[in-house]
Amino acid sequence: MSICVETSIDIALLGCGNVGTAVARLAALAADQPVTILGALVRDPNRPRDIPVPPNVTSDPAHLLASNPSVIVELLGGTEPARQLVLEALERRIPVVTANKSLLARHGAELREAAARAGVPVLYEAAVLAGVPFLGTFARRPFAADASSLTGIANGTSNFILTRCARDGDSLATALAEAQRRGYAEPDPRNDVAGIDAAEKLAVLLQHFASLDVHPDAIETQGIDLLMDLQTAHARELGGVIKPIVHADWTSALEAFVGPAFLPATHALARVDDVENALLLGTARGRLLFQGPGAGADVTAAAVLDDVREIGAGTAPSAARVLRGCRPDSPETEWLITLESGRLPRAADVADLLSAYGVFTHRATPRRSRDGRESQSLLVWPVGRLQLERALDALRGAAGCAASAIRALGAAA
Ligand code: HSE
Repeated sequence: MSICVETSIDIALLGCGNVGTAVARLAALAADQPVTILGALVRDPNRPRDIPVPPNVTSDPAHLLASNPSVIVELLGGTEPARQLVLEALERRIPVVTANKSLLARHGAELREAAARAGVPVLYEAAVLAGVPFLGTFARRPFAADASSLTGIANGTSNFILTRCARDGDSLATALAEAQRRGYAEPDPRNDVAGIDAAEKLAVLLQHFASLDVHPDAIETQGIDLLMDLQTAHARELGGVIKPIVHADWTSALEAFVGPAFLPATHALARVDDVENALLLGTARGRLLFQGPGAGADVTAAAVLDDVREIGAGTAPSAARVLRGCRPDSPETEWLITLESGRLPRAADVADLLSAYGVFTHRATPRRSRDGRESQSLLVWPVGRLQLERALDALRGAAGCAASAIRALGAAA
């Protein structure tokens, strides 16, 4: 009988915050394929840490790269200096694992080209739907991954907040504070609630599944921060929920949006709650659904370490891919319009005015009256954003009421 002793994979961490600390803890448990942390790049090497401190904790990247790691694990977040350091590692032909969606979304084409030149992998399973191991799977299975649309929940913090607000009656601020306490939120949580994190993840998904290079700032993005309690209550009356959605369809020209959207209770994503993320992929061979925890130091660290082990085992899929630059159009979808005023105009007048702009109502909540204000929400048939905005402007002008809208998806979308 032969005993196989695996050699250790030597990694260097760029960044040692929550996720880096979790990587260090989890790596210590990897008995079958040891992972050794050679060192970590940190802002303050003298700060006490609650992990066994690796031998080389430094604020000098050159010092760390010189320690000859077999894999660089980039957990700095943001684009610089992460981009420079990753490019430098690739030039030295050191494989990279990153959880950094901003970096990938904004410089994915450059990094993929550098990886292709160097002939080494860049893996990023932890960057999107961190706790759902699907990117690597699909990178190896091109026939199964032959997708032309996706709809998902990609920001755990936003989903956690909307779930808490709808289910437990929390305010946005209370729910956000709890998400921060649990380590779900970004260092700047405005990136979560304003939809920036989700738009970056959608850009990474479009690179992965559609070979498209889409700048996240070019994607129509609405945050959950401007949602009104009213809309949550009205959504419930209409038999649905509001979820933080990312959506793209590239069957022909690319259409995409990011933002809170009304889903009927029968939608596959309607019961994806708390910090869970999910992705519905429309593929040539049917719809696929993936779901799991989307944020948190431990799930992110697990995805990072699995990528490290893939590289160690020599089974990492290549990230090299030629991306086609593309600007997304804004899709036509249904919308949930919410009106509020001291006194709303007659329902027939609202319907007439909207229909003059080609916007047709198909369902409405009863009118509510609270604190001397009337409100109502309407579901309207699919139109584009510009057409909807024109109708809402006319409504505001003619009827003097506040009018806002979020997108709405049918059960099959
Ligand atoms: N802030 C992110 C989220 C972390 O809540 O989804 C995981 O990318």
